[in-house]
Amino acid sequence: MAPMGIPPSDVEVLVINGKEKVREFSDDMLEHMKSQKWIFSKPALLLMRPFMKREEYEVLDKFMYPAIEIFEEMRKEDTDYLLYGASLAMYFHASPYADPADPFITATYAMLAAETLDLGSCMIGTIGPMLKNGGKKVKEKYGINPRNQPGIMIIFGYPAVKYRRAIRRNLAKIHYF
Ligand SMILES: Cc1cc2nc3c(=O)[nH]c(=O)nc-3n(C[C@H](O)[C@H](O)[C@H](O)COP(=O)(O)O)c2cc1C
Repeated sequence: MAPMGIPPSDVEVLVINGKEKVREFSDDMLEHMKSQKWIFSKPALLLMRPFMKREEYEVLDKFMYPAIEIFEEMRKEDTDYLLYGASLAMYFHASPYADPADPFITATYAMLAAETLDLGSCMIGTIGPMLKNGGKKVKEKYGINPRNQPGIMIIFGYPAVKYRRAIRRNLAKIHYF
């Protein structure tokens, strides 16, 4: 039922069904991330700094690089910090012609559908950007068209806890005109 920029939908979904397969994908992604890690290292970032916006630099320096390090460290203890040992994962991505919002809208609807089935779900934002450039081997193995736009992954599982109510959250800013 998800709406799309221009019908018919250009959104594609990779379904990874089963704990072992999700782990295999997570391992393949971590290998890819490790091969790309040097790009986010201090010396490489300092070289690229004049061509980057401050915010881009800070995200790569303060978030991406440390995140990959944590994924690697946890993997040594056999813990999957990337996809949390989920039993099902779906990667929503779309053709270069699609509105970039399309896969995110479809993925959000998938989360709502999961909720109606009493499943837990979590968006994983690290896969799309890491597959934006490179990742040829991963894309080939999992049938992701290399020309497609990066999308978003959702992991699903049976929830360990039942929440009585959701947290009410506010947007960063409301500006009335
Ligand atoms: C676009 C997007 C990307 C996200 N990426 C990740 C991720 O890579 N890893 C992760 O653990 N959670 C990720 N999340 C989940 C958020 O951290 C989570 O929704 C937020 O902490 C609120 O969680 P709560 O409602 O359970 O408190 C992502 C959420 C969104 C919307």
